[in-house]
Amino acid sequence: MIRAVDLFSFSLPLLRWLDPEDAHRLAIQGLKLLPVMRPKPDDPKLAVRAFGLNFPNPLGMAAGFDKNAEVPDSLLRLGFGFVEIGTVTPLPQDGNPRPRLFRLERDEGVINRMGFNNEGEKAVLRRLAARAHLGGIIGVNVGANKDSPDRVADYVRLIEAFAPLASYFTVNVSSPNTPGLRNMQQAHILDDLLAKVIDARERVRAKAGDSPVLLKIAPDLSLAELDEVVHVARSRRVDGMIVANTTVGRPTSLREPERAKEQGGLSGRPLFRLSTRMVAETYVRVEGAFLLIGVGGIDTGGAALTKIRAGASLVQLYSALVYKGVSLIDDIKNDLSATLLRTGRESLSEIVGADAATITAEDWPV
Ligand SMILES: Cc1cc2nc3c(=O)[nH]c(=O)nc-3n(C[C@H](O)[C@H](O)[C@H](O)COP(=O)(O)O)c2cc1C
Repeated sequence: MIRAVDLFSFSLPLLRWLDPEDAHRLAIQGLKLLPVMRPKPDDPKLAVRAFGLNFPNPLGMAAGFDKNAEVPDSLLRLGFGFVEIGTVTPLPQDGNPRPRLFRLERDEGVINRMGFNNEGEKAVLRRLAARAHLGGIIGVNVGANKDSPDRVADYVRLIEAFAPLASYFTVNVSSPNTPGLRNMQQAHILDDLLAKVIDARERVRAKAGDSPVLLKIAPDLSLAELDEVVHVARSRRVDGMIVANTTVGRPTSLREPERAKEQGGLSGRPLFRLSTRMVAETYVRVEGAFLLIGVGGIDTGGAALTKIRAGASLVQLYSALVYKGVSLIDDIKNDLSATLLRTGRESLSEIVGADAATITAEDWPV
């Protein structure tokens, strides 16, 4: 018998015949129709304890796919260990004019300049509240409205509003598509932002419970900037970092340089080396003060493993789904399980950061 999930998995790569944004919309609609079924139980050895949460497996859906929390439970049923919704802003926002999403087919990359298009706090809150009884780890990625007079206040407001429903928060200061947003990674601005965000979290803790706060950074920071970001993150006691968002850089190796001229953030396979390097660089600076989520160009079990060995306790992906379909989720998990079995290890935590020192000694990826 053909399972619905197999049919979906088969048809996802076919969506590549369509305009990328239409294809994304269709994928979301398809996921809404995914029948309720129990996901296959995960290999217990893939379980990860991080940020005070028990992740059934280390593979998460990265932010930006389900910006409005329309299909988090379908994504969990497909086998993701956690789902990050958003970026959500306080007010609904249209984002940039279309076209704003581009495939670099031959590079297996994606460029986007969506610009935080989302339905806003109220609509997303309503959806999360309606599925709260279902459990599962749902992170809420928060950002500021483009025209906000006080961007810090936007983050604070979202933390207060979503705290009862978010398994964790991601403070996104690294999207390249909201002008000026990435400046919030500058030490003095970041320090003020994180102080107020953590304050907000503490204010609502008694009523809303604990909500870990993670900081998501750009892969384009210089190492001197990364020093400062990690210093601020540690001194403000964030619970973790997500490394990394899309890059505004364009690797020289791209096979579709014409397409690559589109403005926006590049993701997918061409981001893998840079983002992995940034995971390792972050890992050696954090010195175990908190754990990392690694994201950028993961498209195989081997790539996930490399990210983990660079210093990531958990991983996320988005772009590779466009090229490989949802069967990739099981493929990656099976590969990770097989590696643990083959090497006689009890859990992935034993290899987190094992290659960080080696990777940071390599030539800088170009
Ligand atoms: C179309 C698209 C939209 C995205 N939107 C967001 C977003 O709203 N917030 C965010 O933090 N990251 C966003 N991202 C970045 C991803 O979460 C991820 O960090 C990045 O794509 C690298 O992972 P990948 O190579 O597996 O795609 C987006 C990525 C893509 C491709």
